Amino acid sequence: MTSPRFRTLTGGRHGVTVRRARRSDEAGLLALYERVSPESRYRRFHGVPGARIVRLEAHRVTHGGDGTQAWLAVAPDGTVIGCVSMVPGRDGAHEIAVLVDDAWTGRGIAGRLVDEALAQAARAGVGTVVAWVQGDNAAAVHLFRSRPGARARFEDGEIKVDIAVVPAPTAARRLAFALQPAG
Ligand SMILES: CC(C)(COP(=O)(O)OP(=O)(O)OC[C@H]1O[C@@H](n2cnc3c(N)ncnc32)[C@H](O)[C@@H]1OP(=O)(O)O)[C@@H](O)C(=O)NCCC(=O)NCCS
Repeated sequence: MTSPRFRTLTGGRHGVTVRRARRSDEAGLLALYERVSPESRYRRFHGVPGARIVRLEAHRVTHGGDGTQAWLAVAPDGTVIGCVSMVPGRDGAHEIAVLVDDAWTGRGIAGRLVDEALAQAARAGVGTVVAWVQGDNAAAVHLFRSRPGARARFEDGEIKVDIAVVPAPTAARRLAFALQPAG
């Protein structure tokens, strides 16, 4: 059965689970960062990161450093094959970054991860989620631009996609709505 904190995907992503990152996932996430192609790592880190930067990022993402929240895609054998992270910025917007194992791309895993992060942003009342993408990264540009509320523009040599988040109704508001008399 599907639970909101632990979802198993179907179809081409058969058996892949999307769930919150935990501290104990640090080694698995680091292995993903180290395993992906140099191009994917470059696109995720917006440059060529040294081993120390990669280690620090795996720690920050799995330990919630700087208020980071993260979700992982996990293969049936437990291997971490994707990650989306969202970190609050100084202006109140949250910055999102996503990475999927090259061997698992093209199955909607990034879309699923990004939607999980956006749903959490909606629940938390975050107004805007921002993605920075290199201009020639067609898949990622499409991924973020196709989310509802997305607006893309060139800024500082990259494409900045602002995604306006529609707040999710609170439990109290949902209850009030449900109790309204019909008609
Ligand atoms: C970009 C990336 C996250 C996509 O992961 P993925 O799991 O293959 O993505 P999905 O399968 O969910 O597909 C995302 C969308 O991009 C589309 N897409 C895929 N390749 C594309 C391409 N070359 N051009 C245009 N759109 C493309 C897919 O059709 C899909 O759109 P749809 O949902 O409307 O059908 C993955 O390739 C990756 O990790 N790249 C390196 C890191 C990176 O670029 N991160 C983004 C910046 S933080």
